[in-house]
Amino acid sequence: MGKIWIPGYMPVQLLLILTAAFFAFVGIGWVLRKQGRSLPKFTQAVLIWVTAFIILRFVLYPPIPSALMKTYMGLITLVLFLLVSSDEESWAEFKRPILKTLGGDTPGFRRIRTVTFVALPLLIGFGTYNTVAPKFEEPIELRTVHPAPPASVKVHGKTFTLQTAENPFRVDESGEYSNEVQQQHVNDNPFDPDASKYMQYVREGGAIFFQNCHFCHGDNLDGRGMFAFAFNPIPANFADSGTIAQLQETFVFWRVAKGGPGLPREGFPWASAMPPWEQHLTTDEMWKAILFEYWHTGFYPRTWE
Ligand code: HEC
Repeated sequence: MGKIWIPGYMPVQLLLILTAAFFAFVGIGWVLRKQGRSLPKFTQAVLIWVTAFIILRFVLYPPIPSALMKTYMGLITLVLFLLVSSDEESWAEFKRPILKTLGGDTPGFRRIRTVTFVALPLLIGFGTYNTVAPKFEEPIELRTVHPAPPASVKVHGKTFTLQTAENPFRVDESGEYSNEVQQQHVNDNPFDPDASKYMQYVREGGAIFFQNCHFCHGDNLDGRGMFAFAFNPIPANFADSGTIAQLQETFVFWRVAKGGPGLPREGFPWASAMPPWEQHLTTDEMWKAILFEYWHTGFYPRTWE
């Protein structure tokens, strides 16, 4: 359902809205009185009732449960009745349009009566049908864990074509992209002061991983981080051969940059808690974290061939 946005927290919001509604009513009343007119009691009551309903149903956020809604509307109806029946005069004024509709003998009233007596049962019938008729559940969709990636992604203003992009830190000593460099350094110590370029990037990627990712993906990269089980789907287990080992490095880059919100439809219906890291990390930091994930798990990214 739609929601009208007003700054602040819920109680403040509600107070503001109620104050605004109150002054609107006082204002309308004042203007009408200036012109020597006034709204009939019946119209006033209906207006207040409808305004209260709109505020409770569509403006108040977060939405209130329907049982509470019924209680509130019931109370408001009761209070309105007390108000209009507080003295004989206003009660008579309130009843007048109703009695006139029921008993008025001009053609106009007869027409109103016909419309009311046709529309009212129809409305009630429709309402009853709506609450009683079974609703069809949405069909269950199977979630694709590795949906087809887009052809390219735009991250921090730069477009990466997934088929051709490479991790800029998967490089040998000369700074050239290398498919073998990980293999050559499987057993190296990232904390070695004389570590190779590649191993320095792995170490930096590790620092990024432990600052950002291990809460969910686990300090052993096994998807068992301390927050992991609060989520459905649970965070990916990189140590399992079914995740990054199955994927091209650029696919992983796309997933890290865009997170759960960037998944296409078949990645739903369970929205993923994976954050879109482009909002928190630089492009380089994301590539380094990915480099670390492959090095640490000992898996190699899949190639396009
Ligand atoms: C709030 C928890 C959370 C954090 C923090 C988090 N992730 Fe995730 N991540 C998830 C969840 C949940 C999934 C599984 C659902 C999905 O694929 O979106 C996932 C999936 C992934 C995948 C996809 C794996 C696959 O097989 O498709 C990659 C890659 C990934 N995360 C990398 C990272 C990196 C890198 C970081 C840190 C920069 C990180 N994640 C931080 C929750 C998290």
